[in-house]
Amino acid sequence: MRHATRPTVVVGALLLTGGLAACSVIPAGGGDGDDLLVGVAMPTTTSQRWIDDGENVQAQLEALGHQVDLQFAEDDVPTQVAQIQKMIDDGADALVIGSIDGTALKDVLAQASAADIPVISYDRLIRDTQDIDYYATFDNARVGVQQATSLLSGLGVIDETGEPTGVTGPFAIELFAGSPDDNNATVFYQGAMSLLQPYIDSGVLVVTSGETAFETIATPAWNGETAAKRLGPLLDAHYTSRRLDGILAPADIISVPLLEVLRGAGYGTDAKPWPVVTGQDADVTAVKAVVAGELHSTIYKDTRQLAEVAVTMVDALLSGEEPETNDVTSYDNGVMVVPSYLLASQVVTQDNYEEVLVESGYYTAEELG
Ligand code: BGC
Repeated sequence: MRHATRPTVVVGALLLTGGLAACSVIPAGGGDGDDLLVGVAMPTTTSQRWIDDGENVQAQLEALGHQVDLQFAEDDVPTQVAQIQKMIDDGADALVIGSIDGTALKDVLAQASAADIPVISYDRLIRDTQDIDYYATFDNARVGVQQATSLLSGLGVIDETGEPTGVTGPFAIELFAGSPDDNNATVFYQGAMSLLQPYIDSGVLVVTSGETAFETIATPAWNGETAAKRLGPLLDAHYTSRRLDGILAPADIISVPLLEVLRGAGYGTDAKPWPVVTGQDADVTAVKAVVAGELHSTIYKDTRQLAEVAVTMVDALLSGEEPETNDVTSYDNGVMVVPSYLLASQVVTQDNYEEVLVESGYYTAEELG
């Protein structure tokens, strides 16, 4: 139940940076808050964050008196399309969608649009369609920058203020990225590389495998096993006579299986300390690994806040009002720039996990014990 509580941030009190293109749609259902049905389509239950997302959105919508149809598609695109189709057929008044393949929903969303059903793109940008209304997410480019910053500071290349320390390494690192069909994966990668590339160019960081292109380091479906299967051979091929110093890993769902490969290769000992490995989502297993000194960092994204942003958007649309946004330039989905509300994320390490995650009430100390 820990994530069901409402966040302390009151979205309505945050700044409105206006200038939206008018694209809100008033549903046929009215907007009086009674008997309105909201379809919530989430990508998967394979990581805790999406379960929390779905449950938070559902709880907050129900608290406002709406009915909710919450579905998870287990990373299968046809399943998600069928779920959304059914929501439309069942007369949904609004849709909140955390997509699997951001490019695969064009046709089904054309039907939503024809039925005047407003659509919120949740966390992941839905691409190649004009049939979405708003985007609720985190500042994903900043997430990538934060991952790179924590990798660099973990290696001692920059200090806590972000300034170069003058340490020249060279440090041997490997790079992993997320799923190519998820727009976020590219944004995280680009954000991270904006910081790492100069250090790769100057030789402070060495990607020993030479594998730096997004397509080469991407992990389809964010599948941790796939990433683990890539790391094993990389260690065998390049790290028998030298140590791996760091890994840019895009999410906990990937970092945690990578730690197991590293453990199997003898890392985490005095002779072979853990490389600096990054993550994202503050999944409980990952936070425990941070506490244990195995994972260097994760990125905390308060899914309670994201749910609140999406729910506030839905509620505004169902009442015929214009939702609040704070970014109307960053997210071009290939057809239009989608008016967005971006939330801030936070790096979590051994030094600050108690303050950031426990004192905020996101986890109890027992959950991390
Ligand atoms: C989300 C991340 C998550 C990843 C894998 C991304 O779209 O923004 O928080 O770790 O998907 O589920």
